[in-house]
Amino acid sequence: MGSLWGSIMLLCGVVLLRTECSRAQQTKNNVPRLKLSYKDMLESNNLVTFEGLANSSAYHTFLLDEEKGRLVVGAKDHIFSFNLLNISRDYTQIPWPASPTRRDECKWAGKDLSRECSNFIKVLQPFNQTHLYVCGTGAFHPVCSYLEVGKKTEDSVFRLEPLIENGRGKSPYDPKLLTASMLIDGELYAGTSADFMGRDFAIFRTLGKHHPIRTEQHDSRWLNDPRFVGVHLIPESDNPEDDKIYLLFKENALDGEHAGKATHARIGQLCKNDLGGHRSLVNKWTTFLKARLICSVPGSNGIDTHFDELQDVFLMSTKDPKSPIIYAVFTTSSNIFKGSAVCMYSMTDIRRVFLGPYAHRDGPNYQWVPFQGRVPYPRPGTCPSKTFGGFDTTKDLPDEVVTFARSHPAMFNPVYPINNRPIIVKTDVDYQFTQIVVDKVEAEDGQYDVMFIGTDMGTILKVVSIPRGSWHDLEEVLLEEMTVFREPTAITAMELSTKQQQLYLGSDIGVSQMPLHRCEVYGKACAECCLARDPYCAWDGTECSRYFPMAKRRTRRQDIRNGDPLTQCSDLQHHDELSGQTTLVDKTVYGVENSSTFLECSPKSQRALTYWQYQRSTDDRKQEIKSEERFIHTDQGLLIRTLNKKDSGMYLCQAVEHGFMQTLLKVTLEVIDSERLEDLLHRDEEAAVSVPAQDLPPPQETPNQKLWYRDFLSLVNHPTLNSVDEFCEQVWKRERKHRRQKAHLVQQVQIQQQQQQQQQQQQQQKVVNPRTHMHAQGLAAKWKHLQERQKGRNRRTHELERAPRSV
Ligand SMILES: *[C@@H]1O[C@H](CO)[C@@H](O)[C@H](O)[C@H]1NC(C)=O
Ligand SMILES: *[C@@H]1O[C@H](CO)[C@@H](O)[C@H](O)[C@H]1NC(C)=O
Ligand SMILES: *[C@@H]1O[C@H](CO)[C@@H](O)[C@H](O)[C@H]1NC(C)=O
Ligand SMILES: *[C@@H]1O[C@H](CO)[C@@H](O)[C@H](O)[C@H]1NC(C)=O
Repeated sequence: MGSLWGSIMLLCGVVLLRTECSRAQQTKNNVPRLKLSYKDMLESNNLVTFEGLANSSAYHTFLLDEEKGRLVVGAKDHIFSFNLLNISRDYTQIPWPASPTRRDECKWAGKDLSRECSNFIKVLQPFNQTHLYVCGTGAFHPVCSYLEVGKKTEDSVFRLEPLIENGRGKSPYDPKLLTASMLIDGELYAGTSADFMGRDFAIFRTLGKHHPIRTEQHDSRWLNDPRFVGVHLIPESDNPEDDKIYLLFKENALDGEHAGKATHARIGQLCKNDLGGHRSLVNKWTTFLKARLICSVPGSNGIDTHFDELQDVFLMSTKDPKSPIIYAVFTTSSNIFKGSAVCMYSMTDIRRVFLGPYAHRDGPNYQWVPFQGRVPYPRPGTCPSKTFGGFDTTKDLPDEVVTFARSHPAMFNPVYPINNRPIIVKTDVDYQFTQIVVDKVEAEDGQYDVMFIGTDMGTILKVVSIPRGSWHDLEEVLLEEMTVFREPTAITAMELSTKQQQLYLGSDIGVSQMPLHRCEVYGKACAECCLARDPYCAWDGTECSRYFPMAKRRTRRQDIRNGDPLTQCSDLQHHDELSGQTTLVDKTVYGVENSSTFLECSPKSQRALTYWQYQRSTDDRKQEIKSEERFIHTDQGLLIRTLNKKDSGMYLCQAVEHGFMQTLLKVTLEVIDSERLEDLLHRDEEAAVSVPAQDLPPPQETPNQKLWYRDFLSLVNHPTLNSVDEFCEQVWKRERKHRRQKAHLVQQVQIQQQQQQQQQQQQQQKVVNPRTHMHAQGLAAKWKHLQERQKGRNRRTHELERAPRSV
């Protein structure tokens, strides 16, 4: 314990090094703590995949049924039902292709037969206790039907009713179009396009007992080439008459709203009980209003960078059903500046904007201004109810209200995000965000929202936002980055099951399933578990495991807010557990003078900053090794480019994370001078050529010891090793095997010295063995050659180091 405190003091107590500590946090904060490849995910049993059917694709429409334990997925020409426990175990599928006639018609209309003239399932909604409502594009001829799923899990029914309905105003014609729908009380609300050409966009209400109703047609003030992202019902009061439907979409900016072409993100509202107008706006919404959603960051030049391309929305419920938090994922419209952001919006802010001024302009060449005149009563946008309106139905609305509503569908003020800025911004990466789901997690020190963000590269980011002092100052901790599809593909659907603690993901190529947490990957030590700051996980006294708030156990250690292992783990008995040094072993590495060597040290956490110390002998002071010409710090370890004999000594690899230091590696480097190596090589070759291995072992000369040199040779010579990293990794791997052979090397050197003496004696006797002599010359040439190759490698690494690195 004492020595650990000592080293922490040494590290952070010195002013100079303290800046190093804080720099570590600044530079590494946006890096995922753990990065798991597709292979890692599969091998650690953290991913179950459905690889898709050869004749299907576009697994984009998800419906999660936690009660029945099924995930229903709509794709190209098929509907699937997966078991939530394990999607690859037992799933059923219903083929629902478009008829050959429809396919022919679609083809004749000039559409792409394989990519467009199929039945892409776009709507999948619960209809009643036994049936789902399902619609598809039907080869540019939308169709709908009922899907029987049974009342209980045991029923195991999955059957498509033969009755086919017209899907116009429910599913788009074109599978590429972004549309959204929701079925509430037997009525389907859908934001979609209702024509073959994909020009007549509208928000429809169909099905049910009422006459279908829609937005005003061909009026760009209402909708201007919209792409729909989500539909949600949010109550306005305790009276269901006030219930509102909110639509989230993006569309082209209004004429005169923005210089040039631009996309704006929008939230639109409608009253659930809107029946349309009586004389005007007949069978059209009379309560439709929309407002712009802003998600931007201030630029250095005073111009804000806007994230306008709304990609996905998630509603996080709160104690008050009227006030869910809206999480929205955005990207930028710019082709040059690629970036993604997540913004949060409160319903209070959204309602305030809808109660604010309407956007108004006097004519096509005028500017949009806040409407200053008298707003008719009841205020357009208010639902007919006893609570606010005092009227029974929208058909009773005064003409002036309907007229005003028709010409003022947009609000003047935009909705700003909570705290006026995004909670996450990513601009320095080669991927963009596509999807989001959020889970509320109970932890020892409070409740946290954990975000799972899907990207267009088939990866999932797991992010927790932690209040730094107040709710207004949030810190985003990127816990993990996981690859969940076998090749880069956009994640287009995402559902989270709290019951199963699993996440389900859809893409063009298949469906994947992963657990929300994998505490065991953080490591076995208390400190590692604590540093992970994963609200799902706590150190339970023996390992990092799932945290359950109910089970109060004193041994549980978790500190999400601070991630401070010193307070959490310092009273633990074992020094090792605190420092995470359970597996720390002293190693010995051999290097050859004038060649390069690589000391591998990469912390499990990508957040940790490593730094190296050197100590000539145990009594000497430790000195930090600075990156310079000969010593190159890489993410994988320390590369020493040209070994000097004086480089022999102890090397310590330290990881600093969140002000906490761990020694990851302690390695003794022994530099062998090249003369001595040459002789060793000589002996090795000779032994390999002239002495069969089994004849060997005189007590000090084991076959292993021969192998060490042969390994070394083969590594240096290996034709497929084209980077020093690979080379060093290989050396390192072998070295682990041979680390106990240090003693043998010493022996070898001694033997070799003895032999030199013998040789000298032989030479003195003028007895020259011609074979040995020839051999030695050949070896010298070989060694020279090896060194040349080695230099070439070093040059390549050097260039690699200089190249810009992306995380
Ligand atoms: C697609 O292939 C599966 C077998 O892999 C078959 O059961 C299904 O009927 C096929 N679907 C269509 C639409 O032909
Ligand atoms: C899921 O099912 C497959 C096939 O039965 C099996 O190989 C796999 O181990 C299961 N995975 C999990 C996490 O249960
Ligand atoms: C649900 O709707 C389907 C289709 O209209 C109908 O056949 C079925 O009887 C309904 N089920 C219940 C329980 O009402
Ligand atoms: C190693 O490098 C030093 C300095 O460049 C040089 O003097 C020495 O001859 C080199 N040794 C070998 C074996 O190349």
